[in-house]
Amino acid sequence: MATKAKDQSAFLTDVKTLRERARQSLDDGAVMPSYQGDPEKTIELLQAVVATELVCVLRYQMHAISADGITSKSVAAEFEEHARSEQGHMLAAANRIDQLGGVPNFNPEGLASRSATEYGEGGNLVEMIKQNLIAERLVIEHYQELIRYFGDSDPTTRIMLEHILADEEDHASDMHDLLVAHEGKPFLEG
Ligand SMILES: [Fe+2]
Ligand SMILES: [Fe+2]
Repeated sequence: MATKAKDQSAFLTDVKTLRERARQSLDDGAVMPSYQGDPEKTIELLQAVVATELVCVLRYQMHAISADGITSKSVAAEFEEHARSEQGHMLAAANRIDQLGGVPNFNPEGLASRSATEYGEGGNLVEMIKQNLIAERLVIEHYQELIRYFGDSDPTTRIMLEHILADEEDHASDMHDLLVAHEGKPFLEG
């Protein structure tokens, strides 16, 4: 046991050095010298996440209002719930940008082109469900790639994205269930 403890301590910085480092470069806020990511690149990638999530909030909210008017209160409620969830994702990414010393970009100008997903265009209930399922499938792939990219270089960002990814998989599953219920087909049209 003693040998194991000694081996582990070789990976750790001593307390005195940690205390000295914490006092240096206070302007860097939460970004420590041990941060192995590239803060500028991370901020740039997270700005795209903010834009993507914001567009998802707007699409789900637009669909929630439209669906409520068309036929289905329960589908509208589901869209509404997803809109709130996407807003939570957007705020998580925005707060991480702030921690890394950036300013989250909420500028409506250029929002659609900064976003990975599309705003959509409403339509009937099935069309709306499909637009959302496509968007969810897109972000699942996108966030899986980002999670692999961040790996151990920025565990905080990676873990945040892992939580978001789990929600997106839930959202996709919800949209798929709705599609089956309203169209009777368990697959997307090509
Ligand atoms: Fe999301
Ligand atoms: Fe989602």
